[in-house]
Amino acid sequence: MLSAHEPLHVSTDVLVIGTGGAGLRAAIEIDMRGQRVLLVGKRPKADAHTVLAAGGINAALGTLDPADTWQIHAADTLKEGRFLGDPEAVELLCREAPGVIEELVRYGVPFARERDGRLSQRYFGAHRYRRTCFVGDYTGQAIISALVQEVERRRLPIMERVYISDLLTRDGHVNGALGFQLADGREVIVQAGAVILATGGHIHIYRRSSSRRRENTGDGMALGFGVGAALADMELVQFHPSGMVWPAELEGSLVTEAVRGEGGQLLNSQGERFMSRYDAERMELSTRDRVALANYSEIIGGRGTEHGGVWLDVSHLEPTIIHERLPRMYAQFAAVGVDITKQPMEIAPTAHYSMGGLQVRPQTHATAVPGLFAAGEVTAGVHGANRLGGNSLAEILLFGRIAGEAAGRYAQENAGLPLDKLQIAQKRQRLVQLHELEGTTQRALIDDLQRTLWEGAGVVRSAEGLEQALVHLAEIRGRAEASPQGAGDLAAALDLRSMLLTAEATLRAALMRTESRGAHQRVDFPEADPQWQRTIVVVPRRTDDGPNTGISLSTAELTEPSLEVAVVLDAVEIEAAGRLLE
Ligand code: FUM
Repeated sequence: MLSAHEPLHVSTDVLVIGTGGAGLRAAIEIDMRGQRVLLVGKRPKADAHTVLAAGGINAALGTLDPADTWQIHAADTLKEGRFLGDPEAVELLCREAPGVIEELVRYGVPFARERDGRLSQRYFGAHRYRRTCFVGDYTGQAIISALVQEVERRRLPIMERVYISDLLTRDGHVNGALGFQLADGREVIVQAGAVILATGGHIHIYRRSSSRRRENTGDGMALGFGVGAALADMELVQFHPSGMVWPAELEGSLVTEAVRGEGGQLLNSQGERFMSRYDAERMELSTRDRVALANYSEIIGGRGTEHGGVWLDVSHLEPTIIHERLPRMYAQFAAVGVDITKQPMEIAPTAHYSMGGLQVRPQTHATAVPGLFAAGEVTAGVHGANRLGGNSLAEILLFGRIAGEAAGRYAQENAGLPLDKLQIAQKRQRLVQLHELEGTTQRALIDDLQRTLWEGAGVVRSAEGLEQALVHLAEIRGRAEASPQGAGDLAAALDLRSMLLTAEATLRAALMRTESRGAHQRVDFPEADPQWQRTIVVVPRRTDDGPNTGISLSTAELTEPSLEVAVVLDAVEIEAAGRLLE
């Protein structure tokens, strides 16, 4: 795929890798600072993964429930993340989220409104109040359209369908990136004062996931790790309770939580509304981890449907509500011959979101590597062991802005370092070797890796399953390196390289966390262990002379929430205890 053409050389103040919500918002911020920015993405610019974020975006606006406050939003996020979220990041997110919505309204996002003009807010699982703003069930799509329009209005350069294979460094500072155009293989070399990774998560390591082909392959995590940045919370992968189970080509596609938010009911093959056995109080609006585990348990317990799912039913709702509030779901199922105004949807858990990723400082979203910043799903911090639905869109936009501001400042204060030609030549040589590996084998190994992770580190895990998966992963790595030469598929070889790293980090961290907490469920350690209210950090293991030779794990303590959020958390606990006594 690499072409013989002269490489394309570009120079900029800040390079943003990834054109989803976080990347676009970061670029706007850099432009607002009066600096040069270049956006590159491997997908077409208006089709990044953010377009699949369906149900909505959270902010404690209190439009329908005036008692809501940012402190309660923060308390819900920390509590439902089973206290593995970073309180500083969570509080920043919840305090600033209303400003994110105001800004999106200014950019023209057509959020649903009540008759009197107030923004509508819907329930999402485990929120105490209605705080999810939405545009039907295509909120992410509406946000991306508005941001792309703003980026175009500002005439910011975007290179679409460019695959970044390496970050470039000089004297320990990140100063650019190397990649190639997917269309013609032409190399792209960017020199930059700072780089922001906004490349999304790694959940494509799972056979069934809500990502499309070749997205969320963990590229940014691997790029950052490759230059020394740490990963955190890699074992914490969110399984969405509802993905499609058939037809095969749509398996895993998201069935938005908004379906349950609007009153959808879960039923097993015996017609039982089984959530009453798992969370009688919140039923279908329980936390995602509980609903996913409930669906999984029903299926494993022999009460599943023909295709190995459970039923999600909205046929009791007025058809007009379905058409107005869930139009995309209606169309998605109509396309396969299911009329959801009359028939239930067949669904099962699907890998959905990386709650872990690159470790960053909340106030700047800087990694520990000078010149390298990150924002969005590629980072860890906010979600802990169970992300609240609707927090991700708020997260990517707020922290996109923050990373843009901080990277711009960094580029202004540190003169951009010249590129290291020898380093580029060595990396190019490695690319040529990868390119010569037989593409069909690389793609088959990706399938194998995805099956391995689904079986070994899925909704329910055990030491035995995780260890077997690690053995299998080592075999896949060996086969990848010994692949025959042939018609290459460089993008697949690079995807596989990132997936091998992020899969190994996920498996090793999952093995280390000997407890069950949120989305991390261990049959051999079924209870949460207070000793494990810690973050697992994954860093590159290096030999004395520098090269990265593998991964190494350690743990870090979490800080306490601020007093004003701690007070709300206490009140939540007291209220819950009172309800239990009644
Ligand atoms: O179910 C959904 O619409 C997903 C939303 C989210 O992941 O935040």
